[in-house]
Amino acid sequence: MTSDPKPADKTIVLVGLMGAGKTCIGRRLATRYGLPFIDADEEIAKAAGCSVEDIFELYGEAAFRDGERRVIKRLLGEGHLVLATGGGAFMDPEVRERIRKSAVSVWLRADLEILVERTARRGGRPLLKNGVPRAILAGLIDKRYPVYAGADIVVDSDDVPPEVTLAKVSQAIDRFLSAP
Ligand code: S3P
Repeated sequence: MTSDPKPADKTIVLVGLMGAGKTCIGRRLATRYGLPFIDADEEIAKAAGCSVEDIFELYGEAAFRDGERRVIKRLLGEGHLVLATGGGAFMDPEVRERIRKSAVSVWLRADLEILVERTARRGGRPLLKNGVPRAILAGLIDKRYPVYAGADIVVDSDDVPPEVTLAKVSQAIDRFLSAP
């Protein structure tokens, strides 16, 4: 049984690796809390006038990260929303600090098998293009999970229907927001 949603008086930021389910869960969370949903990668692509893949290809990863930092800064200043960030965003100390100050962060933690399986279903991920996705994702888990662990809330994104993960995430958010 899911409880009635409490109003989320903060922006909710979803963090996690590619394939963790940030967009899928983010959209549902936004509906639950009556907030707009924004995908940071889509906003970066809109601002650049080309896809994330093309930004990496034409301008390089550093330029993408600059755009990502700028776009997230803007979005965090735009009123409450649910924001799905790209997997690398929370690795940037400046982005992390902004999120810490103005939002509640939720890490969707998924194991390697799930990430391999889900990322194989959708392309458009430049970091997975130059090598074996499983090995690349394993390396990213080693590097990033200790940093993602600094999120306010950690929820396992298991191989279950999205509604199950949504219920776990929203319960954790409600608890977090009503804590004294
Ligand atoms: C990246 C993840 C991607 C996208 C870009 C880089 C990363 O977003 O921002 O390809 O560094 O992990 P998703 O996590 O939404 O796939």
